[in-house]
Amino acid sequence: MCGIVAYVGKKQAHPIVIKGLKRLEYRGYDSAGIALLNGDLNVYKKKGKVSDLEAFIEEKNLSSTIGIGHTRWATHGEPNDENAHPHFSGSGRLALIHNGIIENYSSLKQELENKGHQFVSETDSEVLIHFIEDIRENNDCSLEEAVRLALTKVVGAYAIVIMSKDDPDMLIAARKGSPLVIGLGQDEFFLASDATPIVEYTNEVVYVNDYEIAIIKDGNLKIKNTQDVPTTPYIQTLDMELEAIEKGGYEHFMLKEIFEQPKSIADCMRGRLNASTGHLVLGGIREYANKLEGAERIIMIACGTSWHAALVAEYIFEELCRIPVEVEYASEFRYRNPVINEGDVVVAISQSGETADTLAAMELAKSKGAIIFGVCNVVGSSIARVSHEGAYTHAGPEIGVASTKAFTAQLTVLTMIALRVAHRKGSITERKYHELLVELEQIPSKVEESLKLNDKVVEISDIFKEARNFLYLGRGYNFPVALEGALKLKEISYIHAEGYPAAEMKHGPIALIDEEMPVVFIATRDSSYDKIVSNIQEVKARKGRVIAIVTKGDVLIPKMADFVIEVPAAHEALMPMVAVIPLQLLSYHIAVMRGCNVDQPRNLAKSVTVE
Ligand code: F6R
Repeated sequence: MCGIVAYVGKKQAHPIVIKGLKRLEYRGYDSAGIALLNGDLNVYKKKGKVSDLEAFIEEKNLSSTIGIGHTRWATHGEPNDENAHPHFSGSGRLALIHNGIIENYSSLKQELENKGHQFVSETDSEVLIHFIEDIRENNDCSLEEAVRLALTKVVGAYAIVIMSKDDPDMLIAARKGSPLVIGLGQDEFFLASDATPIVEYTNEVVYVNDYEIAIIKDGNLKIKNTQDVPTTPYIQTLDMELEAIEKGGYEHFMLKEIFEQPKSIADCMRGRLNASTGHLVLGGIREYANKLEGAERIIMIACGTSWHAALVAEYIFEELCRIPVEVEYASEFRYRNPVINEGDVVVAISQSGETADTLAAMELAKSKGAIIFGVCNVVGSSIARVSHEGAYTHAGPEIGVASTKAFTAQLTVLTMIALRVAHRKGSITERKYHELLVELEQIPSKVEESLKLNDKVVEISDIFKEARNFLYLGRGYNFPVALEGALKLKEISYIHAEGYPAAEMKHGPIALIDEEMPVVFIATRDSSYDKIVSNIQEVKARKGRVIAIVTKGDVLIPKMADFVIEVPAAHEALMPMVAVIPLQLLSYHIAVMRGCNVDQPRNLAKSVTVE
């Protein structure tokens, strides 16, 4: 988490850096800061959002053609002005921004304090810039060399950018474990945690790799690794439109992203699937396709919403491919000694492609010889690069902290992979394969239809906006949808919500049900329909208030439920993509009605790059 931005060139740096920070605010919004150089090296920083920083610097001298900026998600030290970045070195001649965690910072700090260094913040980042300056002074070397030497001694993760009072045209940046992109303009360079602050200036970028140091000096970019070996920058063309990262008339990014889903799902299938010809090709899965088809077991690793997508995929893969699947929380998987056999393959799922636990779980699986397939949204992200092969979800930038369009795109990709595997290994009939391709191709229009339920969801949200608890229940393919609905509600409205398999209710949660308890049933017509009807009756018998998501035309459940939301019929394996839409809308509207900041919920960040 944390977002970093930097600029060096001929233009004024501060508007570029501030705008960039706003684009990266989804990564953290505990504090923000900027360093500029106009004779003096000035650092301005403030607890709160980028808008608070903007107000704070209004009257300051901001003239500078070089600048670095940071938006923080607090790890070491509470969110306050002192702990905000940039941090000065001891002499005040260097300033640093950092995204990541320096794990050995306390021993480094102790060493530096013994030498007389004084720190003004509680952060690991301030220790790093003091350490760099200390090395420079003791070795009488260049800043570039001091950064390199320091990074060989640092344990942890970082993306850093440093500027120096003594070198007004130079930025030094480095990366290990936290993302860093450099945009190449005309005599100017843009650095950022992702490409969103860069896209409006240039589409030529270099993704910095782990253990690389980038030195930008006098209009030139040089890259070397921490072993002092020069590397050739690999220039890539950004495939991102500016509109994709703007609100486009919507009140919030989350609402925009919910409404984008017919398009994002279609984009995800574009060029990959054509039901009329039976064409289904995922260009990123070639060399290791046989491994996937021959897998004796698939282990899926992910966190949060991506983990819910994995749960749906477990049911789909087992049903269609007849391959046993285990779904693991990345954070649990990485800290035990998991058994990985030769015939196992790993599928890692992540929107951001930067989630620290998922990345570490992949590294562990890789060290045990596993072949890893990545399902990521962010192109060029760390998880995409660590994977042997994979498929991008192509949902476009997801900026709202609560994941919506990434989830449905993940389900689309995972379904396509499962269908491809099942078809090639012959575990489904030709007829079923074609039927499912047709069904999948129709999902964008069914999602479009579900979005028309918005007004109805607004009415229901108004009735339940003051509720203190919610239960979400589903069975089969809809059980992970219940988990996802509950997660969406709690993370943006701060209402306690739990998702359960509907049949588990009687093993405990039923005790919670009374006339105060809203219970959302995902009760579409599928193979467990009769069973879930009984579960609804059990809740009604205890006076719970039932909101049921049902298939259009259902006549039975509307007689029992207090409120019904009718979604279009879909194959049960694909229903999660349709049924989740009203749940996303419900959480959104309740949160807005409660006055919550839906795009930036408290304590959360979009990209969880700490464990
Ligand atoms: C929930 C949400 C999080 C993420 C989780 C994993 O709305 O956004 O639970 O799903 O942090 O993130 P990625 O998918 O980027 O690995």
